[in-house]
Amino acid sequence: MVIAIDGPAASGKGTLARRLARHLGRPHLDTGLLYRAVARDMLDREEPLSDAALAARAAAALDTARLDDPRLRSREMGEAASIVSTFAAVRETLLGFQRRFARQEGGAVLDGRDIGTVVCPDADLKLYVTASPEERARRRQRELAQTGEPSDFETVLADIRRRDARDQGRPNAPLRMAEDAVLLDTTALDADAAFAEALRIVRTRL
Ligand code: C5P
Repeated sequence: MVIAIDGPAASGKGTLARRLARHLGRPHLDTGLLYRAVARDMLDREEPLSDAALAARAAAALDTARLDDPRLRSREMGEAASIVSTFAAVRETLLGFQRRFARQEGGAVLDGRDIGTVVCPDADLKLYVTASPEERARRRQRELAQTGEPSDFETVLADIRRRDARDQGRPNAPLRMAEDAVLLDTTALDADAAFAEALRIVRTRL
């Protein structure tokens, strides 16, 4: 069973995907880490993120075994990822890895922005996880505090709104809900309640 989970930044889709995968005993891929890692490699080489050719080269040379780097979780890397992810050549290069991951025996859980629409259009279940921008900003702020990166609410909210606009407005694989996706609004749900609801939806498909 392939489960595709999409949604905007800090919607809770990552936590949800991880918990679902663990519960179902299936591998999980946080596809945002791929874009973050491309950005990391470019920043390490002091390359401009706006250079499409260099970004494409970084994507082609990406070491997908190094996605557990804690630096990938920073606010700076999220912002940088949303810049390099606008390039068609970058997306195209990362597509093969994501599709192979999804096709492994027994299925997998993938989360990102375009899993249900582009990476796995035939997924058995598509969830579109969202929450209000304010609630997502509160969650992101909490997350950043845990990683020792304190931030103020208004800055985080502005980041979220800018990222939403960039992810939804780009011509290549913009963030949008697939027509056959199930909407899961987690504004009023904590992580446990969101997980319970997702599991209920999964069970209707088994
Ligand atoms: O999900 P995360 O915040 O880690 O993603 C970072 C950025 O990577 C997103 O803002 C988005 O621009 C990009 N991304 C994407 N497609 C995906 C996953 C992430 O374009 N499937």
